[in-house]
Amino acid sequence: MASSTKPRVLTGDTPTGRLHLGHWVGSVERRVQMQGDYDCYFLLANMHAFTTRADKPGDIRQDTIEIVKDWLAAGIDPNQATIVLQTEVPAIAELTWYFAMLLSFKDVMGNPTLIHELKTKGLEDKYSFGFPMYTVGQCADILAFRPTFVPVGEDQEPHIEMCRKTARKFNQLFCGVSDRTPDDQYATAGGVFPIPKALIGRIARLPGVGDGAQKMSKSLGNAIFLSDPPKEVQKKLNKITTGRQSPTEPGDPTNILFKFVEAFITDPARVAELKDRYARGDNLGDGHVKQELAEAVNKLLEPMRQRRAEFEKPGGDDTIVDIIRAGTRRANLVAEETLYMAKAAMKIDFGRRVLG
Ligand code: TRP
Repeated sequence: MASSTKPRVLTGDTPTGRLHLGHWVGSVERRVQMQGDYDCYFLLANMHAFTTRADKPGDIRQDTIEIVKDWLAAGIDPNQATIVLQTEVPAIAELTWYFAMLLSFKDVMGNPTLIHELKTKGLEDKYSFGFPMYTVGQCADILAFRPTFVPVGEDQEPHIEMCRKTARKFNQLFCGVSDRTPDDQYATAGGVFPIPKALIGRIARLPGVGDGAQKMSKSLGNAIFLSDPPKEVQKKLNKITTGRQSPTEPGDPTNILFKFVEAFITDPARVAELKDRYARGDNLGDGHVKQELAEAVNKLLEPMRQRRAEFEKPGGDDTIVDIIRAGTRRANLVAEETLYMAKAAMKIDFGRRVLG
């Protein structure tokens, strides 16, 4: 059970499909490492899934369950970390409204990650009013738990920056904290919200298989999923293109193939040796490197496949729903406390509900 004396951590995923290696190196790996030492909250951002897929509620529900299977398969332990379902935490929705009034329209629409998504998802002139709102919602996801750290992939940094801005603004406006207060002193200076820090993953941005121009992403069809079988992993790694012609041609040890080598071959001496031989064109073909990579990736994924198989048996989905419910109940204790601290600071503490 999570202990309240440990510093808190919050992060989450939007249920859009299965998790892939980019999620692993960007954030999930960090979560597994941190869950023993921090009071961790891992959020299922299922409300955000409706910003682009409101026509597919059934898919969103199933994706929500699948993502928890991926988390547990990856090594997240629901007895150590708290799994939270966004749509059953009313404090998040309420805080979203209050925070929306602290940020300028320009701040929200200028968020580089939002701008990038509007472009790449083909949403440019047809997105819903709720789509840009998710960025404000994400500030509430985070601040509802008053965490110290938010482990995320590099693409989420603008969101964390917006969240930090929101926290500073709230504390200045409603808690009388001076705008000259250093970020790490907002809480001790009387603010409701500590200013959380992003923790960027070991590999900030894993490219997708192919020419490596795009980051790994399910929607771009260039992803290796944590639940892919071994042959599929090898087949997908074989799709990496470097433009190199022969094993004796001096290669570039910073190319896309070596981004994968650095991410997944765990022995630093072996990585150094491969780089050296590749750079010299010392009879080291791309095919050979890919084979060694596939072995390393499959070694990482094998225990995940085994753990996942447990939840794929009949009744597995029900077990997952029970885990989600139990975690969300714990999460509401924290989020409700935050909400009423915020309401008191805003002088709207006219009475307090109790969630059943
Ligand atoms: N926007 C994040 C993503 O697409 C998911 C997310 C929602 C999140 N709420 C969050 C991440 C809060 C960190 C903290 O990956």
